[in-house]
Amino acid sequence: MDYQHAQIAEFYDIANPWAEDADFYLSVAGLRPCSVLDLGCGTGTLCCALAELGHRVTGVDPAAAMLTVARNKPHAERVEWVESSAQRYKAPRRFDLIVMTGHAFQILLTDADALAVLKTMRGHLKQGGRVAFETRNPRVDWVDAWGERVRMLPGGLIETLEITGEDGESISFRTSYRFPTGALTTSSTLRFPSREHVEALIARSGLVVRDVFGDWNSGSFEAVRSREIIFIAQMAG
Ligand SMILES: C[S@@+](CC[C@H](N)C(=O)[O-])C[C@H]1O[C@@H](n2cnc3c(N)ncnc32)[C@H](O)[C@@H]1O
Repeated sequence: MDYQHAQIAEFYDIANPWAEDADFYLSVAGLRPCSVLDLGCGTGTLCCALAELGHRVTGVDPAAAMLTVARNKPHAERVEWVESSAQRYKAPRRFDLIVMTGHAFQILLTDADALAVLKTMRGHLKQGGRVAFETRNPRVDWVDAWGERVRMLPGGLIETLEITGEDGESISFRTSYRFPTGALTTSSTLRFPSREHVEALIARSGLVVRDVFGDWNSGSFEAVRSREIIFIAQMAG
């Protein structure tokens, strides 16, 4: 997905409104003010909601267009916005909670990139702090579940998703938007690593898995049935 494209960034919140995953991450942060790092924060919806609750939030994303949308939201002035990939992000401070949401972890197509992001998390985590992120369960037949999906969205926006390829752990697809004044198409590839694979990478990064949930109500992960693999990790040792 070309998140650098101004119109794609504008459509993002229409196609991805507030949902139960955001409620889940708010509840992980809790009500006691803490410091939160959101890697791949996109249009900053979660960051702004966390800031409204009194948390001290840093939102990091490599796409300037997504950050422009984020900066114009209520409470955005309380958030520190940083234009950077999660792999390259470096700050001289540590956080109580580090999240990567909206399946941004699946944009990381290689072990090297996923490990680099987990190391960023490990390197910026306070002692006693937590890391939380999710990836979709590869045991679900996503090609079948997504098929050729057409969604009629608010504002006359029509989104069409079409699978264009499958390659081992990856699925590629094309997303097209038609809107009252035009149309555009963008391509994406997402990786679907297994729970065991991600756990091995987490261990290599110096983190340790504390919980694995299978849905946004903190239900336990079931290898075949769960759609999500939601990891809560902390510092090893
Ligand atoms: C699906 S959006 C998720 C946005 C937001 N976290 C949410 O839940 O709505 C994926 C985001 O990851 C960002 N992204 C892509 N590559 C990244 C990387 N290497 N490090 C951090 N973020 C990245 C994109 O720019 C995009 O904003």
